[in-house]
Amino acid sequence: MSGLPAWLGWLTGRARRREVALRAMRASDADALARIHAQSFRLGWDAAEFERLIANRLSRGLVATDAPGGAPVGFILLSGVTPEMEILSVAVDDGRRGEGIGARLVEAAFGTLAAEGIRTVFLEVEDGNLAALRLYARTGFREIGRRPGYYRDRAGAPVAALTMRRDIA
Ligand SMILES: CC(C)(COP(=O)(O)OP(=O)(O)OC[C@H]1O[C@@H](n2cnc3c(N)ncnc32)[C@H](O)[C@@H]1OP(=O)(O)O)[C@@H](O)C(=O)NCCC(=O)NCCS
Repeated sequence: MSGLPAWLGWLTGRARRREVALRAMRASDADALARIHAQSFRLGWDAAEFERLIANRLSRGLVATDAPGGAPVGFILLSGVTPEMEILSVAVDDGRRGEGIGARLVEAAFGTLAAEGIRTVFLEVEDGNLAALRLYARTGFREIGRRPGYYRDRAGAPVAALTMRRDIA
């Protein structure tokens, strides 16, 4: 889907939802996760950065794969100390967006956090990232703050970061 506008990928993805399998992130995923991250963010994390994050005992990561044993098509990575965690990153392969994979990853992460005693999850998202804002609204996050000029867009102009939270009952 690279080269096509994001909204077109989103539209075609919605028409062609495929099953994915979810599992815990592991060190051998680092190369695939770095590739997905590079498609998704201006400052990509390389494989070594993913290996470091996965090895950190404060991290929790899930990957979505095409089928059990298949290649990663998306991931969510969180970090924190009970009772609070932060979503460090969530991203889906740019050819597989709009299929519900992002929402499944967020919900699956929440499924295990409650049992671990986590009560609140925070995140920061770039203002204007419509896909991410819709994903987070759909999965129960609400805006609690705004940091003006926290990010820079492609042209170098300042863009606000929105801070969001979701409480776990
Ligand atoms: C944000 C991202 C993870 C969403 O993953 P996804 O698998 O495409 O999302 P889903 O298919 O689960 O859709 C979740 C919601 O977002 C909406 N959405 C997804 N892509 C969209 C787009 N391009 N434009 C508008 N809405 C979009 C979906 O319609 C859905 O909302 P709805 O249920 O109200 O219809 C994905 O777009 C991505 O990897 N983006 C680049 C990385 C990024 O920005 N991560 C977040 C940084 S904080």
